[in-house]
Amino acid sequence: MFPIVLHEELSPGVHRMSVKAPEVARKCGPGQFVIVIIDEKGERIPFTVSGWDTAAKTVDFVYVEVGKSTRQLAGLKPGDNLAHLVGPLGRAAEIDRFGHVVAVASGYGIAAIVPVLDALRAKGNRVTTILQAPDVERIFGRSALERSSDRLILAAGENGPDMTASATFPLRRLLADHRGSPVDRVIVMGSICLMRIISEMTRPYGVRTMVHLTPLMVDGTGMCGACRLSVDGNNRFACVHGPEFDGHKVTGWDVLMARRCTYSDESVLRQGFQCR
Ligand code: FES
Repeated sequence: MFPIVLHEELSPGVHRMSVKAPEVARKCGPGQFVIVIIDEKGERIPFTVSGWDTAAKTVDFVYVEVGKSTRQLAGLKPGDNLAHLVGPLGRAAEIDRFGHVVAVASGYGIAAIVPVLDALRAKGNRVTTILQAPDVERIFGRSALERSSDRLILAAGENGPDMTASATFPLRRLLADHRGSPVDRVIVMGSICLMRIISEMTRPYGVRTMVHLTPLMVDGTGMCGACRLSVDGNNRFACVHGPEFDGHKVTGWDVLMARRCTYSDESVLRQGFQCR
């Protein structure tokens, strides 16, 4: 059993959970994920890890309440147990000295991208982060992203100071700014739709763009094929070959989005967050 040590609502429908899992905390790397099973009858839910503490032996993840299982998860309290927490799974994000990295994050990605940004800055990269939220009221994780970035840009509707409506506007300016600091790499964590749009936007600029794909998963070990996707014309499994992929090489975005929404009729798509 895996005890829940912290569970808080960051913004309506968005929760952070911290779970005692010593072996997972000991081995975790940026961008890796865990699979959670709430009880013996529960489905297997993948969550990208948003932090870990080897001293406290805990791992953290942030999730958006969108369906039956995440609603059930939202009802648990510190002191309750998860039946299973398997991980760390997948490959850690590629970390090297790239130069100027622009990160785009929305939804669960706002928290999950933090360990990746910390690792990139520790390697000497300059990080500009664009935080996208449906509106000002639903911004969360701002202070963590400020700590983990050299510059933070908010894209949360047009009703706040220094804000733009969408991450695409500041990103386009950054890509076109040849006099400032050229963009050497883009990383996107958020909805599949956002990752697809950003990948298409950066393609003409030739800026390598990494997306973090967590499609439906079952075993998380490359055996069942549930998480398959097409990369460069080849079948790849997000759970073992990813979850980080070159967005310019991902094909079959439509299939990926359709499969992601397989169970959307069971979902309560709350607070403007969409299954895609
Ligand atoms: Fe089964 Fe990836 S979840 S192959």
